[in-house]
Amino acid sequence: MILVTGATGNIGGKVLARLRAAGHPVRALTRDPDRAQLPTGIEVVGADLGRPETLPAALDGVRKVFLMSLGADKTVHDANLVAAAGKAGVQHIVQLSTLGVETAAGEGRYPIGDWHRSAEEALRASAVPWTILRPNGFMSMAFAWAPSIRAEGVVRAPVADVPEAVVDPRDVAEAAARVLTSPGHEGAVYSLTGPAGLTVPQQVEIVGQVLGRTLRFETVTLEEQREVMLRYFSAETVDGVIRSIRYVIESGDRLAGTVFDDVRRLLGRAPRSLREWAEDHKDAFLAHSAAGA
Ligand SMILES: NC(=O)c1ccc[n+]([C@@H]2O[C@H](COP(=O)([O-])OP(=O)(O)OC[C@H]3O[C@@H](n4cnc5c(N)ncnc54)[C@H](OP(=O)(O)O)[C@@H]3O)[C@@H](O)[C@H]2O)c1
Repeated sequence: MILVTGATGNIGGKVLARLRAAGHPVRALTRDPDRAQLPTGIEVVGADLGRPETLPAALDGVRKVFLMSLGADKTVHDANLVAAAGKAGVQHIVQLSTLGVETAAGEGRYPIGDWHRSAEEALRASAVPWTILRPNGFMSMAFAWAPSIRAEGVVRAPVADVPEAVVDPRDVAEAAARVLTSPGHEGAVYSLTGPAGLTVPQQVEIVGQVLGRTLRFETVTLEEQREVMLRYFSAETVDGVIRSIRYVIESGDRLAGTVFDDVRRLLGRAPRSLREWAEDHKDAFLAHSAAGA
């Protein structure tokens, strides 16, 4: 049995679908099974990574775990799961981390890296065999641009000139499924990127070409970005993300633009390009679309 955390979300949902399609026994973890809208026939367990007492039942009979968690909670949530998995006799945890852990110095200048680094440390310190996936920024972050693209043909973002080799979430999920279901990945750390380092204006140009529209890029201040993010995330997470963006701007973050070959090594093919991603998700950016799901 493979337990998939974040099963109602972006990566976990895709991991669940791939494992299920390949016939592996899977259990989906969600805080609210009634609201979850998971495919019928899937075993679903109600549990909360922030409530350790809910985890033993979720891990009962589980051999492998896909582990993801969010924002400033990552350190504690991953540590909770890792501790419970150790007691439950889990044989392999595949952890979703992030590229950038390598450069996080633990001084609070790059909180996103610090959250993930301490989550990785909790896993490495446990007796459970592990694999760590470090994806770069997801191409799907571009869904946040959909409302202003639809309404005004504009993308607003705070970082203009730092290239990032953004990765297709489908490649991240396929890599996770591969690692969960094939031997030889214990103790490995994989850096998952797309095929090209692209600045946000370059990404916007590609999305515009796919849509057949000329899109405009505008830089926003970090304070403006903070206000937008507060609509969706806790203040603690938003402050950490904003500090991390400031660090990226000030440091130039050369790692983000680096293309790694781990997607190709794991999947035996090139990573999907942003153009492919945009073609496949074009509807979310068209005027008739109500949401960027
Ligand atoms: N976005 C990027 O560009 C990027 C780049 C590098 C790495 N990453 C990594 O990817 C992660 C985001 O993955 P994603 O896009 O798949 O996230 P997502 O779609 O936002 O997933 C949210 C999931 O988290 C679950 N969840 C939230 N709180 C929970 C809790 N207390 N206990 C159990 N489950 C909980 C939700 O489940 P329910 O609501 O059903 O309970 C939901 O399935 C980040 O946290 C980071 O580690 C992201």
